[in-house]
Amino acid sequence: MFLKKIEIKSTLTVYSGVDELPAEVTALMAHAVRSRAMAYAPYSRFQVGAALLLDNGEVVCGNNQENAAFPSGLCAERVAVFHAGATFPDAVIKAVAICAASLDFRVKDAVAPCGACRQALAEYEYRQKSPVAVYFMGDNTEVYHSPSVRELLPLVFTEKSLLQK
Ligand code: THU
Repeated sequence: MFLKKIEIKSTLTVYSGVDELPAEVTALMAHAVRSRAMAYAPYSRFQVGAALLLDNGEVVCGNNQENAAFPSGLCAERVAVFHAGATFPDAVIKAVAICAASLDFRVKDAVAPCGACRQALAEYEYRQKSPVAVYFMGDNTEVYHSPSVRELLPLVFTEKSLLQK
């Protein structure tokens, strides 16, 4: 016999395109698209851009950086969030915009951040004690909006697990 069942529910909003987003987010996604074009992705030919909006008004961007030793590369989201953490450690991250495109085909669906990037983003959300809104799309596709990283990563692992006695 099991003790109980837990149902996990996340609610995302889908916008038909980048122009339907709030103006601030449309502008943020434009930063992500510009950053995506500078990705270093010669192996996958799959380019990802990310742009973070901070409460001090700064926008911090990142794109995927690949490596001939494949696991040594890093995703766009982590390049961006680690850059933000290193440069503006006290700023609150309000939102992140993410977009993906391939050099070989059109990415027709919104591309969600990978699990490792969700975990990395969750660390900063937990640290700042306020949600980071997440927006993601493919190559000029529908845009998905999640009100927080937690919404994308239920049962998140945080420092709480390390502090249990
Ligand atoms: N990639 C990202 O930059 N972000 C993600 O969330 C998923 C994947 C990159 C990693 C690699 O350079 C390429 O996309 C193909 O996996």
